Amino acid sequence: MSEGFVLPRSGSEANPVRLAVLVSGGGSGLAALLRYQRAQRCHRTVLVLADKVDAGGLQHGRDAGVRSIGVPLPMNLDKSERREAHERLVNAELEAAEVELVVLSGYMRILTPWFVRRWKGRLVNIHPSLLPNFPGAHAHRDALAAGASVTGCTVHLVDEGVDSGPILAQREIEVLPGDDEEALQERIKLEEHVLYPEVLDRLCSGRISL
Ligand code: GRF
Repeated sequence: MSEGFVLPRSGSEANPVRLAVLVSGGGSGLAALLRYQRAQRCHRTVLVLADKVDAGGLQHGRDAGVRSIGVPLPMNLDKSERREAHERLVNAELEAAEVELVVLSGYMRILTPWFVRRWKGRLVNIHPSLLPNFPGAHAHRDALAAGASVTGCTVHLVDEGVDSGPILAQREIEVLPGDDEEALQERIKLEEHVLYPEVLDRLCSGRISL
């Protein structure tokens, strides 16, 4: 199961692991991580990258003084070539910034096997359900539709599947009577904002082994 994963080096406050955070939307998770990193940590965000130039999350990066860029899909290319060409642009930015760990935080694109293999073990995601339950883009809706009484969030390493790589940590959240998608999403996010920095601490200090 853990084949081909190369974990990041152990960072320290003096020499933190260099993170890129990839976002598509508002980036509340990114904002929480940047707040956490105001203190010296064993990881530091050096690049915020969005797949849209107007993604709200970019502003959080700029406010924190972090290089923050939109890298949109190259629409001049044929659809069949666009996806990998986009990832090559993204990868060039990651390499130019000497990124060591890629943190997906509400990045709404499925990555190609080429990109996953390039970063395998140094590519981490947060998903708003207790995986393997409710993978995909509608986790809250699916949990409510299934009548789940408990759901949660999961931090995992990314492999070539969708929301399927090795799980690093999970937190349970109760589904309350009257919850709609939005209420559930907001409660899960509060937990995500604590869990993701904690897992990054472990991952960037050699406290995770596969
Ligand atoms: C989070 O709930 C995360 O689990 C999911 O996307 C959401 C991102 O929210 N992958 P935000 O953009 O950080 O507010």
